[in-house]
Amino acid sequence: MCGIIGYIGKEKSLPILIKGLKALEYRGYDSAGIALIVNNKIETRKSVGQVKILEQSLKNKFNLDSHIGIGHTRWATHGIPNKPNAHPHSDCLKNISVVHNGIIENYKELKKYLQKNGHHFLSDTDSEIIPHLIEDFINKGKSFDRALSDTIKMIKGAYALVIINIKTPKILYATKFSSPLVIGVGKGENIIASDSSALVGRTKDVIYLKDGEIAKISKKDISITNLKNKKTPIEIVRLETDLEQAQKGDFPHFMLKEIFEGPEVIRLAYGGRINSNDGEVKLGGLEEIMNELKGIKRIMILACGTSYYAGLVGEYLFDEIAKIPTEVHFASEFRYKNKPFNEKTLAIVISQSGETADTLAALQKAKKHGLLTIGIVNTVGSTIARETNAGVYNHAGPEIGVASTKAFLSQLTIIFLIAIYLQKNEGNKNSSKKLLKEIERIPKKIKIILDQSKEIEKLARKYKNYENFLFLGRRYNYPVALEGALKLKEVSYIHAEGYCAGEMKHGPIAMISSKFPTVAIIPQNGISEKMFSNLEEIKARKGLIFAIATKGDNKIASLADDVFYIPKTIELLEPLLTIVPLQLFAYYIGIKRGYDVDKPRNLAKSVTVE
Ligand code: AGP
Repeated sequence: MCGIIGYIGKEKSLPILIKGLKALEYRGYDSAGIALIVNNKIETRKSVGQVKILEQSLKNKFNLDSHIGIGHTRWATHGIPNKPNAHPHSDCLKNISVVHNGIIENYKELKKYLQKNGHHFLSDTDSEIIPHLIEDFINKGKSFDRALSDTIKMIKGAYALVIINIKTPKILYATKFSSPLVIGVGKGENIIASDSSALVGRTKDVIYLKDGEIAKISKKDISITNLKNKKTPIEIVRLETDLEQAQKGDFPHFMLKEIFEGPEVIRLAYGGRINSNDGEVKLGGLEEIMNELKGIKRIMILACGTSYYAGLVGEYLFDEIAKIPTEVHFASEFRYKNKPFNEKTLAIVISQSGETADTLAALQKAKKHGLLTIGIVNTVGSTIARETNAGVYNHAGPEIGVASTKAFLSQLTIIFLIAIYLQKNEGNKNSSKKLLKEIERIPKKIKIILDQSKEIEKLARKYKNYENFLFLGRRYNYPVALEGALKLKEVSYIHAEGYCAGEMKHGPIAMISSKFPTVAIIPQNGISEKMFSNLEEIKARKGLIFAIATKGDNKIASLADDVFYIPKTIELLEPLLTIVPLQLFAYYIGIKRGYDVDKPRNLAKSVTVE
């Protein structure tokens, strides 16, 4: 997830682009760049790091006489954060410059085709194919407008693009599919940006570009057409917002915004990596160690906090899908354990930030003992990503809320893909097809849960004053019980314990009373009968029960005080659904207790100390 911007108008474009990029920096901040049209030439500047570094490098350029320009602040997905990979990207002749937010899934084959046509690429990004594709069509005699729409028809994936073309120096071009883009309508100027945070202080009148629309923007005019080159109606909306609010979009907190990004984050995690028709999983980041992976006899998952709980779900998935014995270690314990490493072991290191000190130390220990190491990391170019032998990026975009929510869903999705990828024998193609078809259905099922968030808010109002909670689950939902309890602890400061339900009678049941509610994760699956008897033990001791159950389960309501129903899915993927109401439950209780859920006390987003 990057931030992109474009300006055309009466003012000098550079200061406005820089200010807008700073507002968009929460979307990505590992490198930045701008391109301006000055004296009929495109001037491009890029730098690694935050926008202020780019600003520094341009300090005596602010009076550059340019009234049209584009800018980008990056969250790397393809190609590490460095200057060549920073945006904007140009064509061979430097006549066209493009900034892109999203992922072009078929960029590899398009790049090969363009290289055959003599195009030379300067970066490892997917985005750079766009100016070259437009140029390729122009070389075939097409007009710029036609070359742009033909390019859009060729690319697959998510994209928001802002483009300048030296041949039409008074026009900004913009188009989008799935990634956001908003046009700020000004007086004698217009701005286009990833979201309204970059428009604050310049205009409150905005147009939300729709999928497949192409906008041509001059300083006074805006015309929007669809891919059939038909004009589409323009609807201007008046915005009343401040910067922080604009960054959160329509959400009051980053935590809630990131919970609602769940469906998109899962699509981004499997996008361009699966083909459910032939049960194929392609993980480019693991190709270079494919042969070593074939010989793996044991898996060790190393992580902390929420990433550790994602690893615990991984234990079940690798045992059951890949049939490779798997163990999960708290990185802070693993670094001081005397583990015998006696067989070909793969260490999988999971980290959202990629900078967690304990996880890094555990990784270095695994490497010292000659283990093959792969990372599941969200921050591209982070230390853990660079230290592992290979890895898979989450592509979830920056996670601002300290309590990890969308990253957990993305980690579960990637682990699921790696489990299928590591399957020993090809024979399981049919089951892989089924598994992959089901994960493609998950985003919609999460949307169904999110559409009922008000119900969770009501339940949070009922439960917000209890000071102790027990979270129970079995098999795949045991780690969900642990993660649900962690979320409640983090943002509401309530004592909450996650437990595997079978263990309850070996101690925790002593705590059960009418003052100690239990959150029971009991979707209908092969183990729900066992869960049911555990809940009867709680009911026998007047314990309150709030159950997460499967739609159509008419038995649970007879036992639980409150039930939140989720859509049916296969047990292996249940954690992707059962965790979402628990993230919402923690969020609403934290809010109703008046806490800052985005920056909870005593916590840090990335724990870089031991
Ligand atoms: C989760 O909400 C917390 N922020 C924390 O437990 C976190 O998961 C842990 O510090 C690991 O962070 P990482 O994934 O960035 O390595």
